[in-house]
Amino acid sequence: MAKYIKNEQMEKLISLCKRRGFIFQSSEIYGGMNSCWDYGPLGVELKRNIKNFWWKKMVTSRENVVGMDAGILMHPKVWEASGHVENFHDPLIDCKSCRTRFREDKAPHVFKCSKCIMKFKIVNGVIEGKSKYTKLFESTIAGEPHTYVGSECPRCKNENAIELEGLECPKCGGNDFTEAKQFNLMFKTHYGPSEDTASQIYLRPETAQGIFVNFSNISNTIRTKLPFGVGQIGKAFRNEITTGNFIFRSREFEQMEMEFFIKDDESKQWYEYWIKERFEFYKQLGINKENLRLRDHEENELAHYARGCTDVEYKFPFGWSELEGIADRKSYDLQQHIDASGKNLTYFDQEANEHFVPSVIETSAGVDRTLLTVLADAYWDDVENNRVVMSLSPKIAPVKVAIFPLVNKDNMPEIAKKIFDNVSEHLAAFYDKAGSIGRRYRRQDEAGTPFGITVDSQTLEDGTVTLRDRDTLEQIRIPQDKVLSVLIEKVNI
Ligand code: GAP
Repeated sequence: MAKYIKNEQMEKLISLCKRRGFIFQSSEIYGGMNSCWDYGPLGVELKRNIKNFWWKKMVTSRENVVGMDAGILMHPKVWEASGHVENFHDPLIDCKSCRTRFREDKAPHVFKCSKCIMKFKIVNGVIEGKSKYTKLFESTIAGEPHTYVGSECPRCKNENAIELEGLECPKCGGNDFTEAKQFNLMFKTHYGPSEDTASQIYLRPETAQGIFVNFSNISNTIRTKLPFGVGQIGKAFRNEITTGNFIFRSREFEQMEMEFFIKDDESKQWYEYWIKERFEFYKQLGINKENLRLRDHEENELAHYARGCTDVEYKFPFGWSELEGIADRKSYDLQQHIDASGKNLTYFDQEANEHFVPSVIETSAGVDRTLLTVLADAYWDDVENNRVVMSLSPKIAPVKVAIFPLVNKDNMPEIAKKIFDNVSEHLAAFYDKAGSIGRRYRRQDEAGTPFGITVDSQTLEDGTVTLRDRDTLEQIRIPQDKVLSVLIEKVNI
């Protein structure tokens, strides 16, 4: 089975997503909206299954974590206090030759070795056409590409010889740019009928602040001692400059965030705990662990208030990229809201008889990125069997079982439909009686359906049906009345 999706397969995956109804380009009949996406019948199920899995793992199965659902529109002062109005910027530059505008930090960076004059171009942290050097540059470049000086030249091995020569326009290859301008990523809109600055508000750029501003409401209602967490899943909006790589970076997306409130002297232990838990989560989603890694942020990548941040990354064809950040944010957010609102967002420790502002460990994941990851990781060109398979884990597969009559006669459709009616009460099932059985199987392989049940002539004789395994293609016979219990067991492993 495929272990890693290659660049050229990414295009095939995108067309499969459209063909099978996972993901469509937004407003396609009007020419499409760049980097906006709609989830189709299979995509919506997959997305819901991922969110449900996260909710179960992070909220309902934990004694000390509760959930909430804040509004997308919030008081504009929230974003002043959180620092987003002042700091949530990207540096933008314009190419003086072709006038293209892009993010300075995402532009291709050209480096040269001052000793052997070898040149390297780095696009989004990956060296173009020089895959064997990718590792060296990736690890050094993450964070602050501009200060990339140091490490040995991969060709002449001279130490401290690599220097940044300049940027290159991704469109025309030019190298003359305007000074960088800061561009705030928050979408603005107006609240109520007047469109003046007083009514200007923002679409939330993260779900986290909805949790912080409700800290007192929640701690008063749940009456739990520290540590406790609050989880939330919801839409977030960022007017990103550089989008692309399918659904990896878009302007409208969903986050799954959890803020875990703790005593400050326990921050190290909880930070490490959540890093492990969150890494496990992706493995539990069925993602190959060799395609996952943890990356600690360098000192210069950290927000000024953060004590530490570790990303869970996936090895996409476009390079190792962030799926989630686990951050030790100290008491920064609550303190900012205390200062700005004048409200008391402290915690009262009855044993010590003192009020204090809790510290926070945040886990912040993207739903759409996780979905892209499970799709990319599941994509398998099974050349031997002349089929494409989405090897999605049964836990999150949109459809768990497809039920087929082998032929459209001899009471087989009626029996198969009866099995479907019984199974679909408990599991997402699909009934299909049209076309050749081979074609029906292949459609389900592409949809990621892990199991197939076929009613055939032997069913009429002994009441057994065929159970087909999507990945191994193994077929076994099971009694018709055991279909549901066998499937439930297989789906829940
Ligand atoms: N509250 C912290 C926070 O929002 P972030 O690193 O900006 O941190 C967290 O975002 C996660 O949200 C990312 O790891 C990513 O999975 C997802 N995310 C952020 N921007 C995104 C975008 N433009 N498109 C899709 N997902 C995005």
